[in-house]
Amino acid sequence: MSRLAVLSVFSVSILLALTACGGRVEDTRPGQPVKHRQDAFQALLDASEPIGLMLHDRRYDAKRLNELNEALAQARDVPWRYYGPDTDYPPSKSRPDVWREPEKWEAAQQRFFAAAAALRTAESEAAAQAAYDALRSSCKSCHDVFRR
Ligand code: HEC
Repeated sequence: MSRLAVLSVFSVSILLALTACGGRVEDTRPGQPVKHRQDAFQALLDASEPIGLMLHDRRYDAKRLNELNEALAQARDVPWRYYGPDTDYPPSKSRPDVWREPEKWEAAQQRFFAAAAALRTAESEAAAQAAYDALRSSCKSCHDVFRR
């Protein structure tokens, strides 16, 4: 083998190694629906975590909770918009059941919306904690069924 050939075999294997462990597959489709819904789910996490933290640290503050609930309400409706019929492709981690079982998928969303609404109307630390626990369990129960 020439030195050039050895070099290019070497760089191809480096490239392969990089793609194998280099994290996510890019969403290259027009409009990037999978990327957008993943970002929107991340935003749900970012909006809900500070509420959990506040409650965990016993820093309950009704005014602050209102503000955080406002942010959660903004994030709440976004991920679902990006579930078009042809959006089951890598890097999606949604299970095919999202498309196969639309009623169950819808019900899991409704459970989450109801929990978010209850958190919004909670008027004490205890009520907020209970509503927050219900909210997190609505995330988890959907993930258990619909996320890979
Ligand atoms: C009705 C179902 C459902 C509910 C409710 C739900 N999720 Fe998810 N979540 C999913 C699915 C499905 C995915 C996989 C998305 C994909 O890759 O296509 C996901 C992905 C995620 C991700 C990973 C995003 C990424 O960057 O890959 C995070 C973080 C997340 N959800 C957080 C939450 C949090 C926090 C809540 C609740 C406040 C929540 N989800 C509620 C179904 C749900």
